[in-house]
Amino acid sequence: MNYKIGLMGCGVIASYGHLPAIMDTDGLTIHALYDPNEQNLRREAHRFSVPHAYSDLESFFNSGLDAVAICSPAPAHIQNVIDCAAHGLPVLCEKPLAMDEVEGQQMIEVMEDANLLLAVGFCYRFSPCALKIKELINQDAIGEVRTMRLIYNWDCHGKYYRPDPLNQPDFWVEDPRRRGRMDEGGPMVDCGTHQIDLARWWTNSNITRFQSHASWVDEYEAPDHVWCHMDHDNGAHTMVEMSYSFGHTTKDRISHFIYEVIGTRGMIRYDRNFSHFELRNEHGTYQLEYHGEKNFHGMYAAFRQSLKTGELGELCSAPDALEVTRIARHATDEVIADRHALEVR
Ligand SMILES: NC(=O)c1ccc[n+]([C@@H]2O[C@H](COP(=O)([O-])OP(=O)(O)OC[C@H]3O[C@@H](n4cnc5c(N)ncnc54)[C@H](O)[C@@H]3O)[C@@H](O)[C@H]2O)c1
Repeated sequence: MNYKIGLMGCGVIASYGHLPAIMDTDGLTIHALYDPNEQNLRREAHRFSVPHAYSDLESFFNSGLDAVAICSPAPAHIQNVIDCAAHGLPVLCEKPLAMDEVEGQQMIEVMEDANLLLAVGFCYRFSPCALKIKELINQDAIGEVRTMRLIYNWDCHGKYYRPDPLNQPDFWVEDPRRRGRMDEGGPMVDCGTHQIDLARWWTNSNITRFQSHASWVDEYEAPDHVWCHMDHDNGAHTMVEMSYSFGHTTKDRISHFIYEVIGTRGMIRYDRNFSHFELRNEHGTYQLEYHGEKNFHGMYAAFRQSLKTGELGELCSAPDALEVTRIARHATDEVIADRHALEVR
């Protein structure tokens, strides 16, 4: 069967991740787009030759869809999911699932009540390197996992950009994408959810306790540099470090993206800056094939399969994504509350 996919939210991630992957996946067709922003809607409809493009919801839902990909900003996910449930459509929703646990729980209930599949788009899971890490852990290549260091420090597109570099090279404005992500909760709530998800998924374990620390390089309500320490129920410990202010005003861009998985008999290291991926254990050091950290094509191959079988496979379930949202949101809220408490003293 060929599934007709509707996509809601024609922004950055739809353009470089979801739409190319849907178009390249056997058994999926991109049928219709929805976006309240006409400019974004028309741009992506034209770029990907999508036959139907709507800025009104009813026309989108009445266009003959089999499933929906939600690529809107996180605050819009809940209403998008409620609307999909009302129209009987299964969903692949971008991360983070929701803004908080209350919203996430409501989304799960509405989809369960309608007996519909709700998968969450943690595309890092489908990178061949993330899958390899899971396989190596399962094969006991490094013994029992005890420590993970998952680090992503970057500038979140940078604080400023030039809207018209040719005509006004000295005119800079604040980048709304970075502000949007900071207003939604900052780096742990946004990208950090990928790392929290990987830590749980790789080790097939739950987080029993977590504590966060943070600093404010820039002045938003949410911290822009956050560390979250998590204890797993299998005795492992994960440190997730996330920054959105790593050179956010510097002329030259820089980022760190690292996975270190340390076990009782060896370790796995992944470093995006050096395209480096290796396993070290008592037998030696093995250079592994490097791939980027995201894989939308793999995610859509899995979504196609789940539409057929009703099974999620390696796609992230909504309850797992809800737990990730809970941890990331609390880790962020607790440092904000600490900061306010210090200010009133
Ligand atoms: N998986 C990843 O690696 C990854 C990377 C970046 C962003 N994301 C996630 O993807 C989502 C979108 O991020 P983005 O960077 O593409 O944002 P964006 O701001 O570039 O695009 C969002 C689009 O959604 C539209 N929109 C606004 N309200 C809407 C609504 N109610 N219904 C439908 N569309 C609506 C906007 O007009 C815009 O076109 C977020 O949840 C973000 O966290 C994931």
